[in-house]
Amino acid sequence: MKIGVVGGGGREHAIIKALKKNKEIEVIYAIPGNGGIARDAVCVPEIKATDVPAVVKFCKDQKLDYVVVAPDDPLVLGTVDALENVGIPAFGPKANAAIIEGSKVFSKNLMKKYGIPTAKYEVFHDIQAAEDYVRTCPIPTVIKADGLALGKGVIIAMTREEAVAGIKTIMEEKKFGHSGDQIVIEEYLEGPEVSVLSFTDGKTVVPMISSMDHKRINDNDEGPNTGGMGTIAPNPYYTKEIAAECMEKIFKPTIAAMNQEGRTFRGCLYFGLMITKDGPKVIEYNCRFGDPEAQVVLPLLDSDLLTIMQATTNGTLREDMVKWKDAAACCVIEASGGYPVSYKSGYEIKGIDQAEHVYVAGAELKDGKLYTHGGRVLGVVETAPTLKEAIDKAYESAAKVSFAHMHMRHDIGQRALKALAQ
Ligand code: AMP
Ligand code: GLY
Repeated sequence: MKIGVVGGGGREHAIIKALKKNKEIEVIYAIPGNGGIARDAVCVPEIKATDVPAVVKFCKDQKLDYVVVAPDDPLVLGTVDALENVGIPAFGPKANAAIIEGSKVFSKNLMKKYGIPTAKYEVFHDIQAAEDYVRTCPIPTVIKADGLALGKGVIIAMTREEAVAGIKTIMEEKKFGHSGDQIVIEEYLEGPEVSVLSFTDGKTVVPMISSMDHKRINDNDEGPNTGGMGTIAPNPYYTKEIAAECMEKIFKPTIAAMNQEGRTFRGCLYFGLMITKDGPKVIEYNCRFGDPEAQVVLPLLDSDLLTIMQATTNGTLREDMVKWKDAAACCVIEASGGYPVSYKSGYEIKGIDQAEHVYVAGAELKDGKLYTHGGRVLGVVETAPTLKEAIDKAYESAAKVSFAHMHMRHDIGQRALKALAQ
């Protein structure tokens, strides 16, 4: 079989390595891929993941049998629809279902309509009305641009002044472009966060092993938000009881709600949850695998990924198709010093074969050598029987994979370990 994977980050590298275990696959094309992925797949750097017509033409010309569309923008832009229109089955939701991530106003209204637990909220189109609202609403408050904003369209305002400034940034200065034409202002929730990715064919929903992201750049969750500096799986806050509650109150109702709206969701639906004192609530939905959640979840999968993905597309998904190893995983992201603000690229990456898995997010391959190219450069992932061992191994390996001016956090998984000790 010939497979395509749209995207070019660490998540796509993890998907490709998991797919490669299937021996029926002859070739995987990564569109566009990156210099690190080029060690595991045929990269197509000249085509951007968001150039839907070019992606579709390439997949058709190469007569691909199945395509995995991994990132949010290509899904929201309708890549799965466009591929199906030319007869190529693809993993991921169609555009009318990807809106669950593409519009926060849509997802909040969906949750309200179907009674799915989430933070209380108001929607604003008008800057004056939004400013008036935050002069009296409870503080802290959370301001979210409606559309996709590279995961950066969320402002946690600790004061009214910050709230007003946040509204201006999104609605007046248009920092996130048209994503900020509408905003959601919502209740500030507290509690541990859990990421639960799931496979669904629109009828059956099968949660994957839970995980925990670490979004801030520095140890102790300090400094600005990033695309994610590390992950662990499973997440100890996600107990069996909470999992059962999430299935009944969140996962199944969301799948049913999307069907009811005529927007059947097939693919990977990501539930960003907060375990509040009033029970689990949805912080956000993503219409795809998380990055770097995929990097810890997929190495723990004990079943064939391609079979599961095809079952989500065909409507034949069964719970017994998805098995997990009884183990834990830790991913430590190595970033370019200065990320997420400003950083330099072009430093040689050494020791890439010194870890169980190295998933590359930003690198260029030149004369057989890898050079950094981007903010988040790579993720070092180790699995082990316990979380503590997985963390220790991941840091041992991370010490061997290096490049100049590298920055990583040293406390990935420490909060989870404390929770386990309680
Ligand atoms: P998102 O882009 O929706 O994932 O939001 C980014 C981060 O902002 C989340 O991972 C949370 O840490 C935080 N966040 C989002 N919504 C809320 C909320 N209602 N209350 C508290 N924190 C939130
Ligand atoms: N790690 C969070 C995300 O992929 O959106």
